[in-house]
Amino acid sequence: MQVTFKIQRYNPETDSQPHWEDYQLDVEPKDRILDALLDIKRTIDGTLTFRYSCAHGVCGSDAMMINGINRLACQTLVQDLKADTIKVAPIKGMDVLKDLVTDFDPFFEHLEEVKPYLINDELPPSRERHQSIEERERFDDTTKCIMCGICTTACPSFWTNGEYIGPAAFVNAHRFIFDSRDEGAQERLEVLNDKDGVWRCHTIFNCTDACPREINVTQAIAELKNAITFT
Ligand code: SF4
Ligand code: FES
Repeated sequence: MQVTFKIQRYNPETDSQPHWEDYQLDVEPKDRILDALLDIKRTIDGTLTFRYSCAHGVCGSDAMMINGINRLACQTLVQDLKADTIKVAPIKGMDVLKDLVTDFDPFFEHLEEVKPYLINDELPPSRERHQSIEERERFDDTTKCIMCGICTTACPSFWTNGEYIGPAAFVNAHRFIFDSRDEGAQERLEVLNDKDGVWRCHTIFNCTDACPREINVTQAIAELKNAITFT
């Protein structure tokens, strides 16, 4: 089948603003959008710039807006979109470095603010730190995050305020706050209770709808709000 790929292009060295360019491509229904982008790059325009690494939904590096919705290009099939024209643009709310590549530095700075690692100053036991099945279950959903940024850049609160810590960082805070082996909950909750923290979430559900790992992001944020209120 023939599909028109309408791709937002921007080269900061030559363009004053982004513009759209069209590419006609013969594709199979089961081709992924990543395959199509690679095909365009190899056969039509080698300057087309985008990120990817694993190509299998694991690394989280190819988040982009495809037909108006944040998705991973490696997990989206042409047939999923049911369209003759497929529009591909960078995810919203981040500075565009070139074409589909956005600047993730502020995203990772927000992630660092919530200390996404185990905090426990006690000497580790000679073998593993024990945890019951129920204790492990408590944060199972949020362990699945691949830090693709799709939730944060689908959120209107983030679009209007880049200082907003954002859903992805909240998910990673949740993963450790509810881990029975961790002792850093209080310091993380203080960060989350900031004016740019969880209270800027208005329960819009864009994050949950968009997450490619099907994490219930809105639920995790609600649990963090409860933890701030009742601990
Ligand atoms: Fe991506 Fe989902 Fe993690 Fe957000 S919660 S960064 S959408 S994997
Ligand atoms: Fe790794 Fe898509 S390229 S998630």
